[in-house]
Parts: sequence; C-alpha cells; structure tokens
Amino acid sequence: MVHPEQQRRAYLDALGIDVWVPRDEPEPEAAAVEERDEAAAPVASEGLAWPALRDAVSGCTRCALHETRTQTVFGVGNENADWMIIGEAPGAEEDRRGEPFVGRAGKLLDEMLRAVGQGREKVFIANILKCRPPNNRDPKPEESSQCRGYLERQIELVQPRIILAVGRIAAQLLLDTDTPVGRLRGKAHQLGTTPLVVTYHPAYLLRSPSQKRKSWDDLCLARRVAAEVAE
Ligand code: URA
Repeated sequence: MVHPEQQRRAYLDALGIDVWVPRDEPEPEAAAVEERDEAAAPVASEGLAWPALRDAVSGCTRCALHETRTQTVFGVGNENADWMIIGEAPGAEEDRRGEPFVGRAGKLLDEMLRAVGQGREKVFIANILKCRPPNNRDPKPEESSQCRGYLERQIELVQPRIILAVGRIAAQLLLDTDTPVGRLRGKAHQLGTTPLVVTYHPAYLLRSPSQKRKSWDDLCLARRVAAEVAE
C-alpha cells in the first residue's frame, strides 16, 4: 500500500508544485456576492431525461449570454458518476470546444482528480453557467439563476455521492453564501441531500502553486466523505 505521505508528495510532484517557495496568497474573494435574482422563474427542466435536458440547454435563450456564445457547454463525463465536479462557467477554450475544463486549468483539474483515482472519464464535470460570459467576467445573478435549473437537474440525474465545488464562484453560488472560499473548504457541506466539498479553482492554483497542498487535503476529504456515503 502506498503511504499517504508518499501519495501526497506524488500529487504535489505531478502538479509541479514549487515546494520551496512559501506563498500564502489567498484566493481573491469578492467583497460580497451580488444580490441574487430571487424573482427569476426556475428553468423548466424538472423531470427531463438526459437527451431532452441536452436539447433544452443547447437551445437556451434565457439570458443574454446566448447572443455571444459559440456554443453551450453542457457538461461531460459519466452520467452515473460518484463524483460531480462543478465549476463556474466556460472560458474561451471551452466555448470553442463545447466541453468544460479543457484549457490549462482543466488539465490541472484532470491531474488532481487522477491523483485521487477519479479520472475525467469517471466523474461528471459541469459548470454553474452553460454559456461563456464575455471576457470571462463573473456570472451575473440573473445568469446563474436562469441556468440553475439545468444544473439542479444534472445533479438529480447523476445522483453523485459527492459534489466538488471548484473555486469561489461555484462554492458561493451553490451554498448561497458570501463566506470566503478559504473558510468554506476543509469541511463537508450539504447541497440538499448530497455532501459537497469546496476546493480552490485550478486557475487559481496555477497562479498560486503553494495552495496545491491544500487542494490535496480537500480531495482527500472528498474521497473520505464519498466513501462514507457508499457504506
Ligand atoms: N473554469 C471553469 O470554472 N469552468 C470551465 O469549464 C473552465 C474554466
């Protein structure tokens, strides 16, 4: 059996962590989460099966992002996954290819997941928003509320044992809080009946490699929680 410390070192190595540079730059926190658009009607995706849900997303015109997208980014992976990974929104590369987390940050995410035995083919990866916000700006409240029903239905269909929320935007929107991501990580939350663990966004980890150690702890926590659910 591989010793946990060896496994941790291998993880940090695989992620190219610069072990001798002590940097504690926190992930930038928004001063506050913008007011949510409570009045927006939920997306009518209740009860949809995968094909109908995919069609609903690809034809969606519920917010202005449909005008600037190249294509929607539905989500990808194992429809019966134990782990569901939820990020913020597609970036330029994702908008071009129609798949979440395929840029540099996505490659790092893949490495992180593989290190805990959850390669891209095993998990289901989705975003809060299915369309790219221009210039990669943060999602607007009305955009995330209009898109929320699609994600909720995806979660219902996948029925994951664990949700991993990556980055501040995903964590705060899913948990409906403005608590900084540094204080959301390190414990299991609940999203309905599904446990949810928060970790840093891989794009942030690319900028602040010293935080990769903490992301390892987060993934180990997610693995423990998922195992407890399986018991
Ligand atoms: N960042 C995200 O949060 N999601 C993606 O799909 C790509 C980058």
